[in-house]
This record gives sequence, C-alpha cells and structure tokens, in this order.
Amino acid sequence: MSRPVDTLLDYLRAEEARGTESVYLDEQAKELLRELHRKARAQKNAPAKAAAASPVSMSLKEEPPAQPVPAPVVEIKVSGGTAAEQIESLKKQAQDWAPAKALNSLREAMVFSTGNPEAELMLVGEAPGYQEERQQQPFVGPAGQKLDGILKAMGLERDAVYISNIVKFRPSMPKQTTNNRKPTPEEMASCISFVREEVRIVKPKCIVALGATAAEGLLGLTGAVGKMRTSWHEFEGIPAKVTYHPAYLLHGNAGLKDKRMIWEDMLTVMEKLELPISDKQRGFFLPK
Ligand code: URA
Repeated sequence: MSRPVDTLLDYLRAEEARGTESVYLDEQAKELLRELHRKARAQKNAPAKAAAASPVSMSLKEEPPAQPVPAPVVEIKVSGGTAAEQIESLKKQAQDWAPAKALNSLREAMVFSTGNPEAELMLVGEAPGYQEERQQQPFVGPAGQKLDGILKAMGLERDAVYISNIVKFRPSMPKQTTNNRKPTPEEMASCISFVREEVRIVKPKCIVALGATAAEGLLGLTGAVGKMRTSWHEFEGIPAKVTYHPAYLLHGNAGLKDKRMIWEDMLTVMEKLELPISDKQRGFFLPK
C-alpha cells in the first residue's frame, strides 16, 4: 500500500530533479517527514529502506510558498484478492485522483494501464495523447502501433505484457485539438504512486521505461537516453531498462540504425526475461 509519505517524497524528488532548492511544507507534510526521520533513527543499525532510497537534500524553509504547494497527501488503498482485482481497485481510485486534479493542468478523462496484471514485462510511457484519450487505452495511437510492432518482433502479444503510463491523464494545452505535450515533473509526481502500486501488484521481472520523460518520472534520471540505455537501473527493486520512446521511430528520418538501437535494448530485455531468441531475431535491423 502506498503511504502518504511516499507521495510526499515523490513530490520532493520531482522538485529536486528540476533544481528546486527550497519548498514550503504544511504541518501535515512536516509531520510525515518527522515520522520518517524517527523511524530511520530507531532502525539505525537495520537498513532504513525508505530513508536510504530517498536522500532529499533540500533545505526545508518555513516561509510561505514561492512555488506550487505540495499535492494533497492521499493514500491509495488496494483492495481485492487477485492481481486483476487489485489493479481494478487502483483504476477506480485513479478516476478522481485528487493530487492530479488539484494541478488543474490535466484533462478530465482518465486513461489507465492495460494488459496482463501478472505480466513478466511492464512497459511505462509518459502520458496518454489524443488517440489514447479518445479510446481510453494507453499506446493506441501511432506510437502505440510502433510499440505493438516491437512486441510482435519479440514474440509477445500486447495482452501478454502490462502497459502503463506515469501520468494517467492527458496533459492539457490551450486551444488543444490533436496536439499533445509532455507531462511536467509535478504532473508525473501526482500519479507516480499508482505506478509504484502497479509494480507491487504485477511484480514484473523487468520494466522498460519508454523515453526520457518516463525515465525521469520513474527513475529520476535526466540527460540523454543514449547514455541511460547503456546500463540497467532499478525501480522498487525491479530491473529497469531505458530505451527510446517508440514515437522516435515515427520521425521522417528514423532509419535502420534507430530501429536497431531500440531492438538491441529489447534483445537485452528478452535475455533478462529468459525468452528464447532465434538467430533471425538476433539479426533484425542489421544492415544486409
Ligand atoms: N505516448 C505515451 O507515452 N503514452 C501513451 O499512452 C501514448 C503515447
């Protein structure tokens, strides 16, 4: 179950990642941090998981806010026996998720994850776009079709994997029609507790973060995907690979080399999942 302090820490990490040096914390938020501190001290000789995982180094000033107020601290309650029932209980809560609604920068319709709640592979994108919002399904637009093609090349059906987004609502824009924008760190922080719960329920063997924004929201990484993809990372103790967003293959000048780069990441993922890999698969997208 996601604790209120996780929501707070996600918010603080997102602020820290974007260079914020001080934030205003209300009494409830300060009490959560004090509690975390007390627990960490009490377990001084045991691994203090939460504290070790989240060194938040900002100075916590008492003055009124110069930046956004922290998202409301709301707890996710997971109910149900099977993984499918538990995911369903998350989906219901996401519908009116107060921390996301409070930002006033996300659209109304909620687009939850899809796929097998007991999948070995979980893929995480950034946020739904125009097509995803219309169909209320993640990755069903042009980038989604590329993703389906990648999965097919791996020998996997879309229904066999679990497909999620960091943000469960389409980021809004003035005079928006089919145009999309990437989510902000605040928008990602407002929904990340759901992704954490999804990982705890699905228990995938491996996670793939699709693109730089997903890597930032999920793993706190910034910089070039070209660098991030060269090593394995970890989210909630699960190995995580970063690769390019499938939309990268939609650009006019994307060629064989670009396809091969993503494919090499997927071969690494297949090895991690101990999936069979044929010689034909090993040779996909190599120059003839
Ligand atoms: N891009 C994403 O990151 N997610 C979607 O669901 C669709 C496009």
